[in-house]
Amino acid sequence: MSTDENFILAIDEGTTSARAIIFNHAGQIVAVGQQEFTQHFPRAGWVEHDPVEVWDAVRAVVGQALSKASINRHQLAAVGITNQRETAVVWDRITGEPVYNAIVWQDTRTQKICEELAGGEGADRFKEICGLPLATYFSGPKVRWILDNVEGAREKAEAGRLAMGTMDSWVLWNLTGGVGGGVHITDVTNASRTMLMNIRTLDWDDTMIEALGIPRSMLPEIRSSSELYGYGRKEGLLIDTPITGILGDQQAATFGQACFEKGMAKNTYGTGCFMLQNTGTDPVFSKNGLLTTVCYKIGDQPAVYALEGSIAVAGSLVQWLRDNLRMFDSAPESEALAASVKDNGGAYFVPAFSGLFAPYWRPDARGALVGLTRYVNRGHIARAVLEATAYQTREVLEAMDADAGVPLTQLKVDGGMTSNDLLMQFQADQVGVPVIRPKVAETTALGAAYAAGIAVGYWQGEQDVIDNWAEDKRWEPAVENAERDRLFRNWKKAVTKTFDWVD
Ligand code: G3P
Repeated sequence: MSTDENFILAIDEGTTSARAIIFNHAGQIVAVGQQEFTQHFPRAGWVEHDPVEVWDAVRAVVGQALSKASINRHQLAAVGITNQRETAVVWDRITGEPVYNAIVWQDTRTQKICEELAGGEGADRFKEICGLPLATYFSGPKVRWILDNVEGAREKAEAGRLAMGTMDSWVLWNLTGGVGGGVHITDVTNASRTMLMNIRTLDWDDTMIEALGIPRSMLPEIRSSSELYGYGRKEGLLIDTPITGILGDQQAATFGQACFEKGMAKNTYGTGCFMLQNTGTDPVFSKNGLLTTVCYKIGDQPAVYALEGSIAVAGSLVQWLRDNLRMFDSAPESEALAASVKDNGGAYFVPAFSGLFAPYWRPDARGALVGLTRYVNRGHIARAVLEATAYQTREVLEAMDADAGVPLTQLKVDGGMTSNDLLMQFQADQVGVPVIRPKVAETTALGAAYAAGIAVGYWQGEQDVIDNWAEDKRWEPAVENAERDRLFRNWKKAVTKTFDWVD
């Protein structure tokens, strides 16, 4: 294969937009297509996406990327898929129609289901089986909600007519033919976010399936993250193109950041913020509020696991200030506004919009802005918003250090918010170790491209990923310990004000 002429396409079905990115053999971006889709908030705490709109956006961005790169499918060696994880969709295998909107990972409607499942045994009842606490975040309870609440859904599911999936499965099913031809597959990383997969056997688990009341016939086949799943369907832009990589977006970023050794970690600043640390080929169970998850599995090689600290709200808080409060017109303006003041003026913003995830796992938490006086202005609030991401990241990093017993000596970062210098400097100050951004900050799409490319021999393996990784910028801690700890103490106090808000 001539690597000069061939490219890899990564489809990134994210929380707020679909993107398609074409990469060359050096792991550089050749072209990007992007389209946002609608966020539906039908009630407080509910978040939905229309799966048909999402699929239309995926098709549109693939077309955009191919046309911007002036190439066609014949020049694609393979396609990889990466996706917002946990968001669950249930569709009819015969009509191809979703029975309900996709319920998004941020949605909190399953709190009651989770409490009932916990019973007297608490949220960690199934942690030894699936690596996860019972929380509204994960897909299994969302599918249960659909079966319990959408008229006729349970009967159809029991008759074998419905399929469920995370968004990777939905995109793959449609890419490969949908009705009459689509393959129904997920990869181990996405399956590890459902609560239905046994974290050791990497197969669907009978105890979990029974507890959640989800018919086995609805579930996709679990495959590795890098192998041939199928080919693009007979009509469309990707006819006969091999689809050979699937990784949940945070796992894809970990792969794209070349975190292949035990102990290596990355933090991605997107809608939320997610830190993953490679823990090697055995699952490690956290004592400090982190999740046990599959990091990647390349073909028939053993699966590699990770500990994860998930933060539900990071970039989406900036979006909320832009869209709901109209505090500025574009997200980058928040940096200038935050830079217009020298500190947070005493204000702390805890964005517990979906309850609090790691390390607290408090579904009863709701957002709070505290420490206000008449001194506080828009600049201070913009600053408190940026600082919130850095404090939450420090909490997760401290949990990781406590679990590992060995402190991280650097933090690899990526994602949209890493272009915000003020935030990255404040982050380095808070975590007390250098914060390092790679040249290609689109590591999510890149990781999926690598998984797909490795499966077809376009790249040989992990060494190619390591060789292509290059540092772009680093931020060194530059603040007195006493000051960083004073701010963090206040943040912790602010967090306690968010608990017990749900009637
Ligand atoms: O677990 C949710 C995560 O996959 C979503 O990521 O990129 O939308 O912050 P992102």
